[in-house]
Amino acid sequence: MRELVYYVAVSIDGYIADLDGGFDAFLVEGDHAEVVFGEFADALPVQAHEAAGIRPPRTKFDTVLMGWRTLMPGLDAGITSPYPHLSQYVATRQPRKVDPAITLMTDPVATTRALKEQDGLDIWLCGGGELAGTLLPEIDRLVLKRNPVVLGSGVPLFGNAASRARPFTHQRSREFLSGVTIEEYTKSPHT
Ligand SMILES: NC(=O)c1ccc[n+]([C@@H]2O[C@H](COP(=O)([O-])OP(=O)(O)OC[C@H]3O[C@@H](n4cnc5c(N)ncnc54)[C@H](OP(=O)(O)O)[C@@H]3O)[C@@H](O)[C@H]2O)c1
Repeated sequence: MRELVYYVAVSIDGYIADLDGGFDAFLVEGDHAEVVFGEFADALPVQAHEAAGIRPPRTKFDTVLMGWRTLMPGLDAGITSPYPHLSQYVATRQPRKVDPAITLMTDPVATTRALKEQDGLDIWLCGGGELAGTLLPEIDRLVLKRNPVVLGSGVPLFGNAASRARPFTHQRSREFLSGVTIEEYTKSPHT
């Protein structure tokens, strides 16, 4: 069965963005970029593919899940379909008008379970924190791009999650000269 993978950039202290929603403190350049632009190129937005002159490989992910507040900054910049090479699902509780390439989901857990039943590549949980908190029980793998910075406050990796320990098994960590560490975990059995 295809897996739900939360692949996200995060600070040392577990925030995926600052209080204003920015993540300029996270490193784009450096030797870790080889992984971001290579292995995880499916998780780059269209403007990054165009700037780097690369085609999305579609070897890792074919679907992306986003919360409304993750889509919003792109909409403000005129990008209505940030990942046109993937099937795009956006969680919202409101009636919203979106690009025809985007499917809205009012029950992200039910949608995720249905998507997992379908054939295909893994499903990328892009974020943000609130949606990740909702989908935490469904997450099979975590890939955390841990940046060498403390934000102090901001958007947590998992927002509004129920207070309950959920064990994950550390699989590997790759350390880069840039200071970024890419940590991978799989959900422990029977959780
Ligand atoms: N560091 C990274 O790699 C990374 C990745 C992604 C995002 N981010 C950042 O994270 C921030 C956004 O995260 P966030 O936690 O504030 O918001 P979010 O999870 O992106 O979006 C929250 C919104 O999603 C909808 N939603 C969430 N749970 C839902 C549910 N159970 N059912 C239906 N709809 C649901 C609601 O939309 P409505 O209000 O429309 O009902 C809610 O207001 C942004 O600043 C973004 O830039 C960072």
